Amino acid sequence: MRKPLIAGNWKMNTKLEEAKSLVRAMVTELDNIAGVEKVLCPPFISLAAVKELIKGTSVELGAQNMYFEDKGAYTGETSPLMLIELCDYVILGHSERRQYFFEKDEVINKKVKKAFESGLKPILCVGESPEENESGKTEQIITGQVTADLTGISPTSQLVIAYEPIWAIGTGEAATGKQANATISLIRSILANLWNKETAEVVRILYGGSVTSSNIAEFIVEADIDGALVGGASLKANEFVSIVSQTANLKSTR
Ligand code: 13P
Repeated sequence: MRKPLIAGNWKMNTKLEEAKSLVRAMVTELDNIAGVEKVLCPPFISLAAVKELIKGTSVELGAQNMYFEDKGAYTGETSPLMLIELCDYVILGHSERRQYFFEKDEVINKKVKKAFESGLKPILCVGESPEENESGKTEQIITGQVTADLTGISPTSQLVIAYEPIWAIGTGEAATGKQANATISLIRSILANLWNKETAEVVRILYGGSVTSSNIAEFIVEADIDGALVGGASLKANEFVSIVSQTANLKSTR
């Protein structure tokens, strides 16, 4: 049985004090919810402070990106060796990195490989654009991304994939539960082909894109959806707690 996972991607939001206040406002309630993995992904600059505030709780920490080298002359980049001191997870290949920072599958593949080598669990994001969706290319795009991003990587249950259709991110127009489940089961079958059926059955695959406390249930009740990668709604303590607690009620592994 796959343990549900809800991750909050704070993106480029919250100054240090705001990040600390947000964690303080929800850490106890989150800690008290069993049967769901809870991961906060604040900006790099707040990782250490958030780590202190979640110490001793069941809440985990993730970064939003990393570079694929350990150290050296890479101005402005963050190394997996730095992250492993603080984080369990790292979001890789987010569509905003692909779109605004021109990250290609080849680079994302290097990052995924490096994350595993370093002991970090990647949350690999894939998703099609509105145009690709409208022209019926979703399956082709997702197959291409998953295959390229996982090239040369051995089967592992430690991978998390987030299916985030670009047309649903930050638009308030989430996919339907059925739509998301169809693409997520496609991803599971791609994994079964690429790796093997056993591993494909244990890898968690999340949905992301305009998830809120009002629509989380629609996703969580679907068989192949193992949780959510939440953007905007993860910046509101009561929203995020509600998303996690509804997930626990509907799908906990307790
Ligand atoms: P929103 O929940 O704000 O649509 O963002 C989704 C996302 O990109 C999470 O990584």
